[in-house]
Amino acid sequence: MLNIIIFGAPGSGKGTQSEKLIEKYNLTHISTGDVLRKEIEKQTKLGKLADKYMSEGQLVPDEVVINILNDLFDDNIDNQGYIFDGFPRTLKQGEAMDSMLHEKQKDINVVLWLDVDDDELTDRLLKRGIDSGRDDDTLETIKLRLEVYYNETEPLKEFYLKQGKLAKIDGMGSVDDIFSRIEKAVDGILLNK
Ligand code: AP5
Repeated sequence: MLNIIIFGAPGSGKGTQSEKLIEKYNLTHISTGDVLRKEIEKQTKLGKLADKYMSEGQLVPDEVVINILNDLFDDNIDNQGYIFDGFPRTLKQGEAMDSMLHEKQKDINVVLWLDVDDDELTDRLLKRGIDSGRDDDTLETIKLRLEVYYNETEPLKEFYLKQGKLAKIDGMGSVDDIFSRIEKAVDGILLNK
């Protein structure tokens, strides 16, 4: 089994590269952002709660997303592994994920950190805001999302570095060039498994 976390700031390409990883390595995609957006669309209780945080660029409370992860992670699915996109986002989520996987005698193989500079992140998200209209893709909310990322999510880099799992990927350039760098990192992990 190959379990991957795809990690990086908003707009770093986690969703885009996840699609390619799923296709190549036959992984199941777990994206907390996608799940929450679906709940908002359906106007469920969870969606209404999440919307308050997401529209302001804040993180949805840990307990809520940890419960979502527990529900989504089904160890009976016959697949070759998971790609976790947008989870974990805080140290508390990282610790909860470690204990959940440990209970199931599973582990994360690699954390792919997509490194992209802030100007490029902002450009990508503003462009998407114009094209597809995600309502957190406005300049004001993008700034807040980046602030939240640096304050609350970046400490996870140290957490996974200490576990020897962090792989830094240059996330600048074309989607295909970035994917080639990812493939190299993942194939290296598979060879040493
Ligand atoms: P989430 O949905 O996870 O969004 P995000 O982290 O803000 O990331 P994005 O989807 O904006 O970017 P991405 O890195 O996936 O890049 P993408 O491939 O889309 O979370 C949204 C919100 O949900 C959070 O703010 C929070 O409120 C809540 N949430 C979710 N998970 C949570 C958790 N665990 N805990 C608490 N709260 C949580 O690319 C972005 C754009 O760039 C696209 O238009 C794409 O086409 C383009 N692009 C991609 N690669 C390139 C490239 N190489 N060159 C040019 N353009 C590119």
